[in-house]
Amino acid sequence: MLWDEVLTALGQSRGYVSGAELSRRFGVTRAGIHVTVERLREAGYEIVSARKRGYRLLGGPDSLGIGDLAMHLPKERLAAVRCLKEVDSTNRYLKELAEEKLPEGFTVIADKQTKGRGRYGRFFASPAGDGLYLSMLLRNAGDPRALRDVTAYAAVATAKAIRRVTGICPDIKWVNDLQMHERKICGILTELSLKAESAEVQSCVVGIGINVRSGADFPEELREIAGSIEGEYPDVRVRRAALAAALIEELDRLREDFPSRKEEYLASYRELCVTRGPVVLRDASGERKALALGIDEDFSLLVEYPDGTRGSVRSGEVSARKLPRSEP
Ligand code: BTN
Repeated sequence: MLWDEVLTALGQSRGYVSGAELSRRFGVTRAGIHVTVERLREAGYEIVSARKRGYRLLGGPDSLGIGDLAMHLPKERLAAVRCLKEVDSTNRYLKELAEEKLPEGFTVIADKQTKGRGRYGRFFASPAGDGLYLSMLLRNAGDPRALRDVTAYAAVATAKAIRRVTGICPDIKWVNDLQMHERKICGILTELSLKAESAEVQSCVVGIGINVRSGADFPEELREIAGSIEGEYPDVRVRRAALAAALIEELDRLREDFPSRKEEYLASYRELCVTRGPVVLRDASGERKALALGIDEDFSLLVEYPDGTRGSVRSGEVSARKLPRSEP
């Protein structure tokens, strides 16, 4: 689309790009370029023009098109990114695309999801303009057991991306939620598809949902626990395209680092994880009280149960437990 092409060309140039150059590159008349620039301006992009020099992009709305990402990522990387206005779920969409054997690192971003998927089949609220909903294909082959820790690595990578863009580092709540002021601002869902014949990985898709701002509001049941970056830090303004680019770069690094740099990711995970003290553990078998002691070598939660026995918990959910004073 000419809109994205012109925006990408302007976004990738540090200075002016002439109308003649744009018209040559995209095979349209200079009048066609002029009309596109006018449309971009009407949509809120600040594009200055100077005689004999051409056009220069100074800024724009907080949109999430390919052209918006072009200011932050090289063209070769953008070739493996798809931006959608609306989709049911970026994870579902990418898993389906990946059946065609996409390159690892292929990324799908949406401005809005109508059926955002959370863990345990829950709904992940994903209103337009308020968040970043991104899925990346991490692996398109291999042994599923080798991917056990990938979500924990992704939590570290996402925390780094948020810190790069906002200057504020979120906390990790075991196992893979990111929080600010104890409110969930990000959830991560990794989904594997396996080949039926060989049980090998067909696709490993990591999906990340970041609440950037809480425009309308969260559904009733989430109001107590969910938050957003700008909601928790009203002085911070996040440009979602910059956040998307930082996240893509951190996930690209993760793909190179996984699994060999486990010590580094484990150290960061332990540093950021705030799940300690009295908790309630929940999994398919029910609820259990425990004391969270720390994170073991496999990103599992080390706990002590009320009878004094200890264990490590690989999966499930925790919530902090407010105790009467006498209980340990
Ligand atoms: C959770 O908190 O339970 C995980 C939420 C994961 C949400 C993201 S948004 C992008 C990707 N697409 C989805 O449908 N889900 C993930």
